[in-house]
Order: sequence, then structure tokens, then C-alpha cells
Amino acid sequence: MCGIVGYIGYREAFPILIKGLYHLEYRGYDSAGIALINSNGGMNIYKTKGRVSELEEFCKNHDVSGTIGIAHTRWATHGEPNNINAHPHYSESKNLALIHNGIIENYTVLKKQLIQNGYHFQSNTDTEVLVQLIEYIKELNNVDLCTAVQLALGQVIGAYAIVVMEKGQNDRFIAARKSSPLVLGIGKDEFFIASDASPIIEYTNKVIYLEDEEIAIVHRHESPKIVTIGNIEKTREIIQLEISLSQLEKGGYPHFMLKEIFEQPQTLRDCMRGRVDITCNNVVLSGIIDNKKQFCDAKRIIILACGTSWHAGLIGEYLLEEFCRIPVEVEYSSEFRYRNPVIYPDDAVIAISQSGETADTLAAIDLARKAGAFVYGICNVVGSSIARNTHSGSYTHVGPEIGVASTKAFTAQLIVLAMMSLCIAREKKTVTEERFLKLLKELDRIPDKVEQILRTDESIKNLSEIFTYAHNFIYLGRGYNYPVALEGALKLKEISYIHAEGYPAAEMKHGPIALIDSEMPVVAIATDNGMYDKVISNIQEIKARNGRIIAIVSENDTAMKDIADYVIEIPATEDCFDPLLTIIPLQLLSYHIAVTKRRDVDRPRNLAKSVTVE
Ligand code: AGP
Ligand code: GLU
Repeated sequence: MCGIVGYIGYREAFPILIKGLYHLEYRGYDSAGIALINSNGGMNIYKTKGRVSELEEFCKNHDVSGTIGIAHTRWATHGEPNNINAHPHYSESKNLALIHNGIIENYTVLKKQLIQNGYHFQSNTDTEVLVQLIEYIKELNNVDLCTAVQLALGQVIGAYAIVVMEKGQNDRFIAARKSSPLVLGIGKDEFFIASDASPIIEYTNKVIYLEDEEIAIVHRHESPKIVTIGNIEKTREIIQLEISLSQLEKGGYPHFMLKEIFEQPQTLRDCMRGRVDITCNNVVLSGIIDNKKQFCDAKRIIILACGTSWHAGLIGEYLLEEFCRIPVEVEYSSEFRYRNPVIYPDDAVIAISQSGETADTLAAIDLARKAGAFVYGICNVVGSSIARNTHSGSYTHVGPEIGVASTKAFTAQLIVLAMMSLCIAREKKTVTEERFLKLLKELDRIPDKVEQILRTDESIKNLSEIFTYAHNFIYLGRGYNYPVALEGALKLKEISYIHAEGYPAAEMKHGPIALIDSEMPVVAIATDNGMYDKVISNIQEIKARNGRIIAIVSENDTAMKDIADYVIEIPATEDCFDPLLTIIPLQLLSYHIAVTKRRDVDRPRNLAKSVTVE
């Protein structure tokens, strides 16, 4: 899940690489490292445990000259986070330096063979095996670096995005990928390589996304050459990206997460733009229109996702079943891929992923495709692996999400699922025209309602201060709001490190109610919808056991004021769109609790934004 970046050109590489690492820190921050080749051909490597800022500080007293370099920010999979295990890794002779994102699964076998051949290892990583193997092959066969990389990768099982440089060769580096992303930036007399476009976009918007098993030979004075591991030459299209640097910066907010929460009215409008047309009373989702047969004839829909995207999938299940009358199963990609699932060729599969790079979801998609199913992607990152490995799909169009805790991507996933459901339901005639139009109009009002909730931020902040003492939280909801309870709990866990559980409100009495005492905060979602009276009864049961209740209610609710300890009001909407509103106060609550507890909100411990390892 690491972030990798490389530069070759006419400028000093160090500042470009360090800045690039800051952009990529969301991918991991266990350690950081850099390798530079100076004008004499000498190679310098610097590595530090911890954040990029520590590497930058360390480098202040060292030679960081050079117009070619590679850099890495790590999320450890093999070997603890320390200076030695940090990338770049050297080969035996110290002539080669390599950075890697992914896992070399057969590294123990390869390591054993290399040790038998006299190689010595410094680190506990799988990565070091790869750089040693490349050098071993290069020397044994007396071949150039590119051929050695090709031969070495032919022996490797696993996932990788790598960049490798050679001492004395300050005019080129070599990059390769399989199952981990890699973008090549094409500037004027300069080239970039990175895990995503964020380190590149400041310098050029022209990029090439490398495909699996492709190798790029990036030379200072020539156009990059792309070949496969099997040495077949490839011509790849140069894509013009449309993201701007300001989209990647905090814009005055203390954290990306807060910025992203507050961006939601706009991102939801962006996501619906050109798709929801209330003057023509229509939803136009081209991916669905082009593939309507696949959905209308589907006997079943399977939704694949992880984490927050899986929660969006659960809400998708409710939407698609209610409006399209198609049975839906929502699966954790990581479970699905290993349990020999039954997949029919007439299943429609929807894969949901913000990053579009989640390894488990990619593998689950592969399985579904092999079984002949039609696979539709809902992704945020344009050109990401999932977007490219699905038959069709819809982008969420919320711009880069940098905070590790997903917020704006989640609500946009819900909007896409709502638009899909309406689109399919109209085709299948499983909703009346009157209901369709009512829902469409309400969908269009959602961004304004989100804006209204965001105006209550100050009172949610005040409320959060009361609860920083808590070691546990329970979140309750029913119907469409049950997955919101799960998502609210996940948000709190991941950024504040407070244990939290989401539950269907009515399930409390089957066990978890034993946890309730006067210390236990319970966040209950009790908006004015079909489940309101039922949820009130569930809350009464908690009240009777002295639980401290924070209720999310619809505006003008009077009953809850007498029951709950604290009440957060939000505008009313259709039941099916409730999650788009009820999640907003929960995002804010977790954010403020985490800030009060002085947590690293955008980069919580042990996590990374893109989970490109299984
Ligand atoms: C969200 O807050 C999490 N950090 C995480 O659960 C995330 O949703 C999950 O890793 C899936 O990522 P994806 O949407 O990029 O596939
Ligand atoms: N396997 C490598 C390591 O542990 C890279 C990890 C990754 O890409 O997540 O250092």
C-alpha cells in the first residue's frame, strides 16, 4: 500500500520527490526513503522510520543533489517499520536501488536461493529479495538492467509496482507494475512516475497508466519506451488529466477530512450534474442506459466492496430491492474471493470502491468475470484499476479524497446507487411514474439539505467535547439507517481509536443491551420515517438502563427531546435518501471527537487510504 514516486529531468529531484511523498503519505507512513544519483553518478540513499517530515529533516545535512531520484513512503507488510526495512533497498553490490509497492508472495523461496548464491540480506522485507534477484540475474546472464528486470519479474509471484535505478546511470530508471498502480507523467524534457497522479499534476497533466506486466524504460532524453515482461513493445495512449492542484490541497481547513465533509453539497451536485435532470424529469446514467439489459434481466445483483464502500453497498441493497425488485447480495470482497461463491452468468455484479485499487475487490471482480457475470464499477479515481477492469461503470466525480476516513466518496456512492436504482426501476416499470418524479425531485434537493446540516457544525463540536471520556460507543439504526449506524461507528473507530459498534436497533435486546450503563453513549438514528415508532421503543429500552442517548432526529421532532440526553436535528427526506443526511452529523461527531483527543485525523495509525494488499 506504499506510495512511490520517481523523477528524471532537468530540475533538482529532491524537492519534487519530497513534495510527491507528502501527497502520497495517505498510502502509508511507517517510514520514508529516497535515493538520488548525483552528477558524478554516485548514489545516495536516505531512509527514516516515521513520517515524510522526518525524512525531510534528516536530509537537511546530507547531499541531496541530483536530477534523477526515486522515493517511497511505506505501509509495512513484511518486516516491522524501522530504518532498515524502509525503502529504497540496495542490491548486494549497492549498485541498484529499488522501491516497491505490493507483496512478493514467493519471497522466502527466492531468498533461500539467493543466500545459497552468496547474497546477504539486511532487511526483513520481501522487497529486498527483488532487488537482489534483479542484480543476480543481471550478473549471471550479463544482460542490461531492463532484461534483468524482465527475467526477475518472470520468477516473481505476487503484486508489485517498482522503480529501479542503477549507480553510474543517471540518465534512466526502469519501472514495472502488476496489480499495484503506476502512472507515468510526461513533461517537457522531464518524466515522473508515481502511485497516483497527485505528485505529477503540478508539472504536467499528460500521463500514461501502465498496465499489468508492463515495464517502462524512462530515459532522460528519449520518449519512454514500454515493453511487457515478455518483451513485446507497446504503444500506450497519453491521457490528459483534468484534476487541479488546488483540489489536492486543504483550502483553509485544518484537515482534509473536514474539508471533504464540507465539500459534500458541491460534490453531490457534481455527481448528479448532467445525470439528474428535473426539468426533463429524467435520470441519465449512461453506463446503465448502455447496459440496461444486463440489469433488467439480472436474476440477482451481487455487490462487492470493502469498508465504507461496503456500507454504501448495504444501502444499495435496500434501494435496488425496494425500487427494482431484484434480489441483492452484498459481499465483503475479501470473503467472496476465497469462498468458492455461486456466480451465474446472468448475475449483475456491482463493485464499489473509492480508490479503485482495493486488492480484494479487484480479485473478487476477477472471479466474477471469469464466471461470466457482467461487472459494473462505481469508482471515484478516474482510470483506476477497478474502473479499467469492469465492463462498464459510473464515476462518483467527487475529486481526490485525501483523508483516510472516507466521507464525500461515501455520499457520492449513495447518490450513484440511488440514480442507478431509479434508472433501472423506470426501465423495469417497478415504480410508478408519480413516485419516480417525487423521488427525483427530492434527490435534487439533497445537496441543499446537506448544506443545512453542515451549518449545525458548531453545536456538534460542542457536543463532541462531552464525550471524549468514552471508551466505547454504540450506534443504532433501522432500515436504511442501519448501515449508517455501521458507518458512523467505523468513522469513530478509525480516527479517534474509540471502540464503537453499529447495530440494528432491534437487535440490542438479543445481547448487546447487556453493555448499557450510565457511561455508555448510544447514538440513535431516529428520523421521521417508517421505522420511527419502532426505533423510539428501542431507545426507551436503553433509556430504562441509564444509557446516554444522542439522537439524530428530523426537525420539529418533539417526542425525542423528553427521551434523549442530546438531540441533533436534520431536515426530513424520503426514507430511502435518509442515509445521505443522517451520516453527516455522524461524520462531524467523529471528526470533532478525534480532534479533541488530538488524533492524527487525516492519517490515523495503522491505516492507509488505498489498500492495495490483501
Ligand atoms: C473508510 O473510511 C476506510 N478507510 C476504508 O474502510 C475504505 O472504505 C476501504 O478500505 C475501501 O476502500 P475503497 O473504497 O477505496 O475500495
Ligand atoms: N511489501 C513491501 C514492504 O513491506 C511493500 C509494502 C506495500 O506496498 O504495502 O515493505
